[in-house]
Amino acid sequence: KLPQPFTVPLPILKALAPDSTDAQGVHYSMTLKQAEVEILPGYQTKIFGYNGTFPGPYLDVHAGTPVVVHQTNQLPVPIVTHLHGGLTPPSDDGFPTDLVFPQALADMANPGMAASMSGMDGMPSMTDPLARMTAVQRDYVFPLNQRAATLWYHDHRMDFTGVQVWRGLFGLCVVRDAEDDKLPLPKGEREIPLMIVDRAFDGDGQLIYPEKDPTLLGKPSMDKSISAGAQGDVVLVNGAPWPYLEVAAVKYRLRILNASNARRYELKLDGPGGGEFIQVGSDGGLLAAPVTHSTLAMAAAERFDVVVDFSKYPVGSTVTLKNAADSGGPGLVMQFKVTSQATDDSSVPATLSTIDKPAVDGAKRKLVFSLQADKWQINGKDFDPAHPLLKPVFGKTEEWTVTSVERHSVHVHGAHFQVTARGTGGAGEYDHGWKDTVELSPGSEVKFAIRFDGYRGRYVAHCHNLEHEDMAMMAAIQVV
Ligand code: C2O
Ligand code: CU
Repeated sequence: KLPQPFTVPLPILKALAPDSTDAQGVHYSMTLKQAEVEILPGYQTKIFGYNGTFPGPYLDVHAGTPVVVHQTNQLPVPIVTHLHGGLTPPSDDGFPTDLVFPQALADMANPGMAASMSGMDGMPSMTDPLARMTAVQRDYVFPLNQRAATLWYHDHRMDFTGVQVWRGLFGLCVVRDAEDDKLPLPKGEREIPLMIVDRAFDGDGQLIYPEKDPTLLGKPSMDKSISAGAQGDVVLVNGAPWPYLEVAAVKYRLRILNASNARRYELKLDGPGGGEFIQVGSDGGLLAAPVTHSTLAMAAAERFDVVVDFSKYPVGSTVTLKNAADSGGPGLVMQFKVTSQATDDSSVPATLSTIDKPAVDGAKRKLVFSLQADKWQINGKDFDPAHPLLKPVFGKTEEWTVTSVERHSVHVHGAHFQVTARGTGGAGEYDHGWKDTVELSPGSEVKFAIRFDGYRGRYVAHCHNLEHEDMAMMAAIQVV
């Protein structure tokens, strides 16, 4: 039985406490394990969770201070963790074959023999002699030499990302810096992350996903039957179904993340007044200047950092965050109840940051995302970890043009980009600032300027519809 919408309070994410801080950075620990948690009131749902929680712990960290996340895999399946939006060296970026095996699987095979393990149960479906496999635990080191931004981390296991994220392997990471901290934007209790996902549940409150082998140790189970990606009829925000939040009639900063496997949202505020989102940031941090939207179109994995002014709504009113892209369960997201007056010394300055526009001085590349027979591919190729499809040159600003006849959410690791054009027009209304994920509408084209100037080595670009990704819509990148 599903709860009535807007009867469960929004969980407020509490930052994970670090274990210690030393010359290497700030250290955190996460154990990945199976757990039973209450997502739907009255039910215990089996999940995979970082520290056994759904979503995983919230990392609240500072740019320029490295973060070391010590992960222990107590799940029955291999895992690999990617910090989405992080500018991370390839060794720690969560390449899909850099797996951390559970003890039982590690005992069966020598993780050093990555190539010979290909095709074995639980192993990636393609050979990758370069895979850095480990048993049970490893440290991920994130240098965070980047701007303040709303990032997130999630599983990236080759062929099984969709189902492992669906079961709970995702969490938020907010990176702060002095530039962002000193802006007069709403802060503290008035800065609220909203991680939106959709899920499907059976009558016992268990997650339903169209996997063929629930052990996740056999062959990958994606096929054309879920070509739209996995979607559910229940919308969860911070892990709670259609929650509500009591707010004062003041401005709030909402860091919105679409962490859904495949669903896109057109978020709207439905209430007696206003209805505006003032966007201050994107995937890659602050915009140059605020942009006002009446709707936020969000593809899977995109982030919108917005200010909503609840003083536009009378005390006692409710403001419903809806998803205009759908009706029924997926058409509702959460509700704000404006319950009190309060003083508000926050404001949204007309200038937020500076965004330099890199001039293209490198290669122009074309990426065609397509469905060939039963396969989701990039430039007619399945993902092949060992053979990079793209070899961008370190330090050069390249222009990538992505086209498709279907809808996709295009994500690149290792660099941020700026959208420069959609078709023959300029960038769209949701394309402002630095991005790492961009929506491609059916039959359209998007161009962006991208410069890999952090680290050389291998990364991936892929569709962030996780079922498309698992069906091979991913390309290896070698920054040369
Ligand atoms: Cu959010 Cu390659 O992932
Ligand atoms: Cu796709």
